[in-house]
Amino acid sequence: MTNSLTLRRPDDWHLHLRDGEMLAAVAAYSGHFGRAIIMPNLVPPVVTGAQAAAYRDRILAALPPEVTLRPLMTIYLTETTDPADLIAAHRDGIISAVKLYPAGATTNSASGVRDFDKVRPVLEAMAEAGIPLCTHGEVTDPAVDIFDREAVFIDKVLDPIRRATPGLRVVMEHITTSDGVDYVSANQNIGATITTHHLVINRNHILVGGIKPHYYCLPVAKRESHRLALRRAATSGDQRFFLGTDSAPHPDRAKESACGCAGCFTAPNTMSILAQVFEEDGALDRLEGFTSLNGPAFYGLPANEDMIRLVKRDTPATYPTHIPAGDETVTVFDPGFPLYWHVEDPA
Ligand code: NCD
Ligand code: ZN
Repeated sequence: MTNSLTLRRPDDWHLHLRDGEMLAAVAAYSGHFGRAIIMPNLVPPVVTGAQAAAYRDRILAALPPEVTLRPLMTIYLTETTDPADLIAAHRDGIISAVKLYPAGATTNSASGVRDFDKVRPVLEAMAEAGIPLCTHGEVTDPAVDIFDREAVFIDKVLDPIRRATPGLRVVMEHITTSDGVDYVSANQNIGATITTHHLVINRNHILVGGIKPHYYCLPVAKRESHRLALRRAATSGDQRFFLGTDSAPHPDRAKESACGCAGCFTAPNTMSILAQVFEEDGALDRLEGFTSLNGPAFYGLPANEDMIRLVKRDTPATYPTHIPAGDETVTVFDPGFPLYWHVEDPA
């Protein structure tokens, strides 16, 4: 039985660090990652290169000195994004990707795109410059059932965008369905992030036996067959699938509410959970690909040079159930099983 595993330092290809007190509270919990793609859905959103640079500086200032996490910034695409600003920000090493939120799809996405034709010139410029587009893959049409929104997005938005701009590199973020897995598997120039929590929970975890706000995220977890499809994709070794935790902290008061926010805070225990998931699926030898190799390969970056070690012990690793954030608390994702894999950093 394998009880120790040394991996290239992992990266997180989809992370919400927020700003202000929340940023200060959560940033260090992503400290064992080498790099993270930072989501731009602040209030107001990060829409220019200058704002991305300023946000990067605030993140670096919030990290404890011993933490080497490198934030890879993104810009929030709007119908008025200036292609020249994007291109310059990418050329100057300020941004690594651009994020597409359909307007109203998720937390703080009101400034997102309504008319996809309006952003076509920006997408063309991005394809030319090799800037990846990260997509929140859900339509927002009120007539579409929330559990079908990812599948409809693929047909109605994603596939048309990719056909119109074939050179564009696209990341389908936080896929939650077998439809997402199948679409990515069947195509080139596309990758997908998979979150930790979507490998663990299905929609029953949210809804059976009382509503569990801390398991509510967007895209919402789907039925069990979809979770199993995500597990197969993550553990398959296919380079198009890689880790994006989508760790998305909210104050407990905002989640435990009559209109609770979407997002699971998985940064602290993600690596312990993933080791357990991959072990259960007999795929521990593919964990490094998923967490540390496939993402950099997609983004055209080298893997991290340094290593972390995961050690399986008889006693479970302990993580806080909550962390303080200013006057608030944030609940850490509870996978529902003990975590015997401990993270040792440095290796
Ligand atoms: C994210 C957030 O809170 O910013 N929430 C979530 O449920 N994942 C937004 C997002 O990535 O959809
Ligand atoms: Zn997210």
